[in-house]
Amino acid sequence: MLRAVVCVSGGGTNLQAIIDALEAGQITNVELAAVISNNKNAKALERARNHGIMDIALSPKDFEDRSAFNEAFVAKMDELAPDLIVLAGFLVTIPPAMTEKYGNRIINIHPSLIPSFCGVGYYGLKVHEKALERGVKVTGATVHFVNDGMDEGPIIAQKAVMVEDGDTAEVLQRRVMEQAEWILLPKAIDDFANGRIKVVDGKVIYTDK
Ligand code: GRF
Repeated sequence: MLRAVVCVSGGGTNLQAIIDALEAGQITNVELAAVISNNKNAKALERARNHGIMDIALSPKDFEDRSAFNEAFVAKMDELAPDLIVLAGFLVTIPPAMTEKYGNRIINIHPSLIPSFCGVGYYGLKVHEKALERGVKVTGATVHFVNDGMDEGPIIAQKAVMVEDGDTAEVLQRRVMEQAEWILLPKAIDDFANGRIKVVDGKVIYTDK
């Protein structure tokens, strides 16, 4: 049974998709050891509590500087001893010490088809605003391993979503969540937990296809 820790900052709809998939048996061999948020008021923490999952609030604001937060964050993660760390809408930069220690055991969901609309400044609604501004006809979501870059780690899975005439950023965000994020992330966790993916020469390969 793999221990997973999910890091969140906001509404937690991706966390909810993970919880629902676990309870439906669509994710196996995983237990959610804890949910960590930098935002003590995040609805995501309420979702964790509603399902009896340990919820931890840990914010850079509670520390004198970023290095003090990073040290505390890594120490807390080590205490939880996860086999997998899932970033589900987590808006805090992962400390280099964490990516080093948990290399290729940290995955992130990003609401675009990387390498489009990603990197510094591309998060949440902003991603969809930029996609609409550019006039793309197809967008989507990406699950990838996390390295020291921003949205640059090996890509695990992607799913395309059509942009429709008249879409607002909010409407497009919801469609990308429903049609891509909430499907990709639980499946990537199940694939990882059941040994179906590995990284070879910086690329993800599926070992049972
Ligand atoms: C999602 O759009 C996700 O792709 C991005 O942040 C958002 C988090 O939403 N990383 P939620 O907290 O899972 O509802």
